[in-house]
Amino acid sequence: MRSFTAQTRLRQRAEYTHRFNAATGRHGWIRLTPSYSVKIVEEIVTGHDRAQRIFDPFCGTGTTALCAATHGRESVTTDLNPFLVWLARAKTARYSAEVIDETRNACAHAIDLTLHRAIEPVPAPPIANIERWWSADDLDFLRLLRAAIDHATHSDTEARSLLLVAFCRALMRLSNAAFNHQSMSFKDDEQLTLPLEIDKVAIFETEVRFVLRGAVENPVGSASVMLADARKLRQQISGTFDLVVTSPPYANRMSYIRELRPYMYWLGFLSDGRAAGELDWQTIGGTWGVATSRLANWERSERQFNSAQLTRVLREIAHPDHKNGMILSKYVAKYIDDMWAHFCELTGLLSAGAEIHYIVGNSTFYGVLVPTEHLFAEMLAELGFSHVECRPIRKRNSNKSLIEFDVVARWK
Ligand SMILES: C[S@@+](CC[C@H](N)C(=O)[O-])C[C@H]1O[C@@H](n2cnc3c(N)ncnc32)[C@H](O)[C@@H]1O
Repeated sequence: MRSFTAQTRLRQRAEYTHRFNAATGRHGWIRLTPSYSVKIVEEIVTGHDRAQRIFDPFCGTGTTALCAATHGRESVTTDLNPFLVWLARAKTARYSAEVIDETRNACAHAIDLTLHRAIEPVPAPPIANIERWWSADDLDFLRLLRAAIDHATHSDTEARSLLLVAFCRALMRLSNAAFNHQSMSFKDDEQLTLPLEIDKVAIFETEVRFVLRGAVENPVGSASVMLADARKLRQQISGTFDLVVTSPPYANRMSYIRELRPYMYWLGFLSDGRAAGELDWQTIGGTWGVATSRLANWERSERQFNSAQLTRVLREIAHPDHKNGMILSKYVAKYIDDMWAHFCELTGLLSAGAEIHYIVGNSTFYGVLVPTEHLFAEMLAELGFSHVECRPIRKRNSNKSLIEFDVVARWK
């Protein structure tokens, strides 16, 4: 049975990245996963009492790792995005009382430096149309605060990470970006500036307090968060796992790099648009900037997964009546090839009887349904998994055909 304290701890840290502003109906932080995902992951983890080693190859904001560690398990998670690896490490670390004190002191010092302008501000990050994101005043404040955090903490310390998590939350609260759609949009003109009485320093202090409340509650288990490509896992991961709980990218052309770029620029994980496009091309389902033009020259290699269903879907999307049908058909083919490469790697990391859960949504192109869950099921069966099932979880939006599934299977 899940204990109340474990649940509370999980919720506090999970919300480092999932905050819903009920007053305005806006999401204060990019929602990488649907809000119910913590609950689903928790149900799967607590439903497998005997699974000691739990793996999530697509870490994102670290939901599975945090949940597994909170429930006393050993978790390992990987992601290709260095910002998400940093964030998940910050979310799953165990913090001592000394670190909490050090962070409080560093926060006071950073605020002092900022208020007295006693520090050279960092340059504005090279985000296109940055003035759409933050007003000149807010940008000025953020540049000073960012420099002050670096000055008040040592590099690679937990105190710096905690302050930077709070900084990310503050910069999103101050921004003009709205999160009520899957992709970001900007607020209407009349909403563009926050009321003047909202003090920027108070916002940062509130976020630091919030982050520290989560940080004092340490997970009892362990989490190891690694930068790795899910298609080349065996180079970096050793041992086997009893349970895999993950939410891979969907074949829906959403770019995580695009959605995360403000944080990545401010924290130095991205230096320019070219680097952003390159990273997006590396990610499964990446489709932003250079990724789209590269797809035009991309061809499937031999020895890939194939099925009658996949062939039909690719052919229907590529229909000459569809303006960009050929490239979108390639997009889906590359997504499937990449997931196949991932599943092939995964088989070497599972203990006998291990159960895997892939939470994934289907998608449509020109009205052609891409049944991602069925394609996963076909791939898993071909690799020798048994008990393969696609369990519907929920509808994704008003489009009745878009559904999220838990694709479940057992290894041998
Ligand atoms: C749907 S998100 C995971 C959401 C996660 N469950 C959470 O709690 O936030 C998919 C993740 O897969 C990562 N990803 C994409 N391609 C990858 C690859 N080749 N190897 C490892 N991670 C990859 C993306 O960076 C993204 O964080």
